[in-house]
Amino acid sequence: MGAAPIFELGSEALKPPRLLRLAPNFYVAIFGIMKLYPASYIIRQAEARREIGPHTLVVETTSGTFGLALAMVCAERGHRLWLVGDGAIDATLRDRILGLGADISIVTEPAAVGGMQQARLNLLTALRRDHEDHFWPAQYENPDNSRSYAELAEMLHAQLGQIDCLIGTVGTGGSMCGTAAALGERCPGLHVVGVDTHGSVLFGQPDRPGRLLRGLGNSLLPRNVVHTAFDEVHWVSAADAFSAAHELHRRHALFMGPTSGAAWLAARWWAHEHPDRQVVAILPDEGHRYMSTVYDREWLAARGLGRAALPSAPVTVDTPGFEGEGWSRFGWHRRRIDEVLAGSEIERAA
Ligand SMILES: Cc1ncc(COP(=O)(O)O)c(C=O)c1O
Repeated sequence: MGAAPIFELGSEALKPPRLLRLAPNFYVAIFGIMKLYPASYIIRQAEARREIGPHTLVVETTSGTFGLALAMVCAERGHRLWLVGDGAIDATLRDRILGLGADISIVTEPAAVGGMQQARLNLLTALRRDHEDHFWPAQYENPDNSRSYAELAEMLHAQLGQIDCLIGTVGTGGSMCGTAAALGERCPGLHVVGVDTHGSVLFGQPDRPGRLLRGLGNSLLPRNVVHTAFDEVHWVSAADAFSAAHELHRRHALFMGPTSGAAWLAARWWAHEHPDRQVVAILPDEGHRYMSTVYDREWLAARGLGRAALPSAPVTVDTPGFEGEGWSRFGWHRRRIDEVLAGSEIERAA
């Protein structure tokens, strides 16, 4: 038997996060691009099931990072890829995706119902109709998205032992629901906190199209969001998420995207409130992609953002429908969404 190889294959080596301790009971998992977990796992599973052959076109709709991760994996594994995106994909990201050999179409007009996301799905439907030999990873509903994070849970537990609270953002639901499910088997009493934004339907608020904070939140409800996985939900405004990303950089030299800012804001507060509990927050991507938006003073000023001081604590609300701005928090108590919206009695998962 030879020694274990020093190098792993490209995207596999880029996948794992760095773990950093920001306070005695508070760790962050810092990803270059978290979406490499589902992109790599979904493609490999599809290959194993022979759903991808030598001439198969991989098609997907994306607001950014999943598309980039898929482009990295497909380039490495020799698959053709055609992505459908929207204005969230700026010229730099588009050029990077093209540089990896993928094709990309950008939609510019939202659908009457379901916003840009539905408009992207409509174009994807046309692509699938036109290419019989295609594979659609379907990150919103493919259970392999969530399953891909079992490996992350195993790694977190191996490095940190008992984890009492997992905090992260929710978009497709894959990262939080997948990590929480696998981590919960190893860490008794794990408390799970999901971070969303106002005007996203994921945890029961009415849809507000044109949300500035992208990556987390959704105009549609994906099958990969398992509401009964969550003990607590926070809604963070775009303004607070952007300021939090700046603060994370200023304090810790961590240059991350705005969803990382939102997760860090909620997790820092939670860890401070529970000094005897070990907390881990998931920070999904780096800041470079947001240089011309979140990290651009003029872009922020034109939207009246970038001046407000960061709140030190959330406002606790008793209904998800609370449509205020800022940062709010709600006890979800592992209920289904219909139970929460009906205001029924709390039913804790056994
Ligand atoms: C930058 C970023 N943060 C957070 C998320 C949310 O992760 P998930 O889709 O696993 O819920 C996404 C999803 O696309 C994302 O792109």
